[in-house]
Amino acid sequence: MAAQINPSILSADFARLADEAQAVTGADWLHVDVMDNHFVPNLTLGVPVVESLARATDTPLDCHLMIENPDRWAPQYVEAGASSVTFHVEAAAAPVRLAREIRAKGARASMALKPATPIEPFEDLLPELDMLLIMTVEPGFGGQAFLDIMLPKIRRTRELISKHGLELWLQVDGGVSASTIERCADAGADVFVAGSAVYGAEDPAEAVRALRTQAEA
Ligand code: DX5
Ligand code: ZN
Repeated sequence: MAAQINPSILSADFARLADEAQAVTGADWLHVDVMDNHFVPNLTLGVPVVESLARATDTPLDCHLMIENPDRWAPQYVEAGASSVTFHVEAAAAPVRLAREIRAKGARASMALKPATPIEPFEDLLPELDMLLIMTVEPGFGGQAFLDIMLPKIRRTRELISKHGLELWLQVDGGVSASTIERCADAGADVFVAGSAVYGAEDPAEAVRALRTQAEA
């Protein structure tokens, strides 16, 4: 699959979200980080903001839920207009039931792993998912340094996806930039979240184009 670049609005100006969402022309998805100050030590936005964002942009929304009890909340993000919803396996009580519910409501179902969570116990769950997110920083904040130690996990996950012949997207999130994206792509990632590397750039749309060129090199 061609590389997909998903700018993270966590690094955008929250007082100008509609403009910031529209500034990243050429982005495949808009990555929306939902944090509840329980699963991670930071608080961002919730369902009403996602509803407004969905109205403000034609770019589909990729909601990354860093929250406790995603079993209860994730379906509401589909109703709010998200086209892809990612829950953390560390927080989900029933990941298979939840993934099925997200799909049944019409969105892509995705599961995220924190850096210390291995992929191997979840091999049998992969057919239930449309995307797997491997965190390349500890979730909670933008602008952190990329964790190179996650590259072997990305590689092993790509091997599992190939072994089972699945159409599963493999997303990386955290510290993805001009200097790290090629390593992620080499390891087998095909969906790239970038917050500070896009919104910290003088021209966010140009940053998206540059990242895509590098990922496909
Ligand atoms: C971190 C979030 C990321 C964040 C990435 O917990 O999940 O999506 O926005 O920001 P950068 O690209 O700056 O590391
Ligand atoms: Zn994220």
